[in-house]
Amino acid sequence: MSFPTTRLRRLRRTPILRRMVRETHFSASDLILPLFAVPGQGVEHPISSMPGVFQHSVDRLVETAQAAFDEGIPAVLLFGIPEFKDDVGSSSWSPKGIVQQALQALSKQIPDLVTIADVCFCEYTDHGHCGVLEAQEVDNDLTLANLAKQSVSLAEAGASIIAPSDMMDGRVGVIRGALDDAGFSAVPILSYAAKFASAFYGPFREAAESAPSFGDRRGYQMDPANLREAMREVELDVEEGTDMIMVKPALPYLDVLSHLRQSFDHPLAAYHVSGEYAMIQAAAEKGWIDGDRVLMESLLSIRRAGADLIITYGAREAARLLNTGWEP
Ligand code: PBG
Repeated sequence: MSFPTTRLRRLRRTPILRRMVRETHFSASDLILPLFAVPGQGVEHPISSMPGVFQHSVDRLVETAQAAFDEGIPAVLLFGIPEFKDDVGSSSWSPKGIVQQALQALSKQIPDLVTIADVCFCEYTDHGHCGVLEAQEVDNDLTLANLAKQSVSLAEAGASIIAPSDMMDGRVGVIRGALDDAGFSAVPILSYAAKFASAFYGPFREAAESAPSFGDRRGYQMDPANLREAMREVELDVEEGTDMIMVKPALPYLDVLSHLRQSFDHPLAAYHVSGEYAMIQAAAEKGWIDGDRVLMESLLSIRRAGADLIITYGAREAARLLNTGWEP
């Protein structure tokens, strides 16, 4: 039956009708807040390309995590800017490492908070690449051993979930084995399964001080043109035992999210990355868009495409809007 019998506008007439037929919802409990830990005390250093995002010393990071937790955000994703960098990133597996310190403080002071530890080396190496270099290339297999060390060290410090973002082949299996051998068989893995070599990571590299000193990451992160390869990446991580999977970035890759949702039953996360957040903030600052509405529409779309969980720098803003009755 078509027009004039069918009129789709009938169910759009009032807010209550729209609410009744709305297909996609999300709440603060679907959101994950990324945080950056730096050495020191009382540090809250703003990131110029990400208004509202800071590098925090552990004391301030705990306060921010507590505020987010009180707003209904169940989890944080931790990155660290270490005291020193070297060619392999050894400060990432030191028991006194910056993320290890943050994890110890968080698990003591906010025991119910879910702490997700990013596993990678780009913040910890003096060359800014995500692993061990051999003739100017990141060596996959040499890097695997270090990923295992970093993961176990983060689990020992209290990480609830281990999240490898390095894009080495075989990392999930190696990390799973290392965690199990060290007595952490209960610690889940959230793999950055389909992580693309994206220009949208620009502002993050300011926040994490992790820009590569030469070249780029195209030799290990995925080609933005490839959907079928994303399916293979996820298949392999699933075979190796990942508990959850992630697509990153989010908005430019909604098709990838949607395909993965149809093919895998694993909990699916999307990373709404730094550049996606920065674009909203910049345009809102200029008065060109309504930043709150664009943020919420972005997050809703990521959910509609199939994500269960969304990692976003706008998590607290979104939680506040949701808690005060925001609707599309
Ligand atoms: C570390 C890592 C990156 C991001 C998350 N983990 C940067 C990169 O791969 O260069 C980017 C996150 C963002 O842009 O918000 N490997």
